Amino acid sequence: PYAAIGIEVNVDHLTAVAIDLAGTELLSWRRSFPGAAATPGQTVAAVAALARRVLNRMAKEARQVLGLTVAVPGLVDVNGSVGIAPNLGWRDVDLSGDLAKALRDPGFPVLVDNDANLAALAEHRFGPHGGVADLVYLTGEVGVGAGVILDGRLRRGGRGFAGEIGHIQVDPAGAQCRCGRRGCLEAVAGMAAVLHDTAPDATPAELEPEIEDIVRLARGADPSVLGTLAGIGGELGKGVAVIANMLNPEVVVLGGYYVALAPWVLPAAQAEFARRSVAPDGGGTRLVASTLGYRAAALGAAARLLDSIDSGRLPA
Ligand code: BGC
Ligand code: NA
Ligand code: ZN
Repeated sequence: PYAAIGIEVNVDHLTAVAIDLAGTELLSWRRSFPGAAATPGQTVAAVAALARRVLNRMAKEARQVLGLTVAVPGLVDVNGSVGIAPNLGWRDVDLSGDLAKALRDPGFPVLVDNDANLAALAEHRFGPHGGVADLVYLTGEVGVGAGVILDGRLRRGGRGFAGEIGHIQVDPAGAQCRCGRRGCLEAVAGMAAVLHDTAPDATPAELEPEIEDIVRLARGADPSVLGTLAGIGGELGKGVAVIANMLNPEVVVLGGYYVALAPWVLPAAQAEFARRSVAPDGGGTRLVASTLGYRAAALGAAARLLDSIDSGRLPA
């Protein structure tokens, strides 16, 4: 039997998923990794080590692995090269080439794609949206990004950079963004903004435990945390209105850490979106939280690998 691997590299963690040809999940591993502080070389080594562990596991189960797709939080061009990953501090990294070298198996397929794009693929294929043609996945990591599915297909744009909603300016006086601009959606509605207001000493590498703390405080109705999350939701609603006015998708799915924060962020985002949408009733666009959890991008990555292979022609 066959398998495909997806690995997501993010600012604070690595996530690996393996699936079989039918898309059934064979394993899902997540571990913290200080992506923001690591060099591209260190990240390549960590991803290669994780990939080898998954390969070993698959070998034990007598599965032949068809390849690996890596999801990254940045602009990936159609050739698989990472142009800019603002929150990793990367510029022009040939990740697939470097990984292929690190894995020392020249024939082993390694693809690279944007995290939000791949999460959108997973959500469209494995999420509870049966039959939806137009779906946008909006992820809240340190950065904010989108994956755009129209007519059932992931849209990449001319060179692969579609969906960079995180770098649309929503507040000219807003915080500095890691892309070098100011007041980008991610700078005011991403996890850096959440931490800035609630845990100013935290670094992005400690994101998951920090978000858990924030969730605890929000459950306890801490007024300052509730205020921050409502504010983040309002900013996010501006981004959702841009998406809805442009594309009128049936559904916008909030992913990443927005899922954990959804009880507080989503109502505020919904209200702001309704105020800003030009179409009545937000054009019918539904705003929901992802049910796939933190593994969405890695799952989509594995599915993307299978899409690149003509599985009908594999020997049985
Ligand atoms: C990047 C996007 C990415 C998003 C979420 C943004 O900073 O520019 O490419 O999808 O973060 O990780
Ligand atoms: Na994208
Ligand atoms: Zn920016």
